[in-house]
Amino acid sequence: MSASAAPVIAIDGPSASGKGAVAQRVARRLHFHYLDSGALYRLVGLAARLAQVNIDDERRVTTLAAALDAHFDDEDIYLDRQLVTDAIRSEEAGADASAVATLPGVRQALLLRQRAFRAAPGLVADGRDMGSVVFPDAAVKIYLTADAEERATRRYKQLIGKGMNASMAAIFQDIQARDDRDSRRAIAPLEKCSDAMFLDTTNLSIDDAVEQVVARYATATQAP
Ligand code: DC
Repeated sequence: MSASAAPVIAIDGPSASGKGAVAQRVARRLHFHYLDSGALYRLVGLAARLAQVNIDDERRVTTLAAALDAHFDDEDIYLDRQLVTDAIRSEEAGADASAVATLPGVRQALLLRQRAFRAAPGLVADGRDMGSVVFPDAAVKIYLTADAEERATRRYKQLIGKGMNASMAAIFQDIQARDDRDSRRAIAPLEKCSDAMFLDTTNLSIDDAVEQVVARYATATQAP
């Protein structure tokens, strides 16, 4: 199978919807590769901060994105050979990522890098524009979401669990601000593709969501 023919399961949705956890488990179940595209935007935001480049400076941030020295090793993420797995998960890093993600030059610079993750036997990719822009020919497209309050609670527990400082009110506000920016931006906004399956996980466990995605994939790839 050529890399470009490897099947893709695209999982898009707003922040803290659980799409990362679901995507990772689906990838493990099917022995597929996994792309956390949000991590790439988070890395660009961090690279800009470390280089003291203003995150609104499109020309300079795009140059950083094009030259990004990023390395993924299972759950560990490296920037310029430094382990940054936790550093890119802070609320601040999320806000920076959302800001650099509005820059067309940055999105263009990351496009081929994301497509390079496509390899046999398949890829599960999560983000905001996996089904609409990066892998429009994905075998399965999922729009995974949950109520903003439920997402804020999940993010809060996640941060506290990692020993980070967190305020529920601040997280809720941040999630609303990010939803707003990610869905309103002019280029590749977060939106449900017409051919995507809507999956609301507000009252659904991760395991149940994984089952639904795997079942959808089985149906989509069944011989007629
Ligand atoms: O999925 P995440 O929360 O780690 O993503 C961080 C930010 O990156 C998110 O607020 C918007 C941006 N992003 C994007 O614009 N396109 C993607 N495919 C993935 C993330």
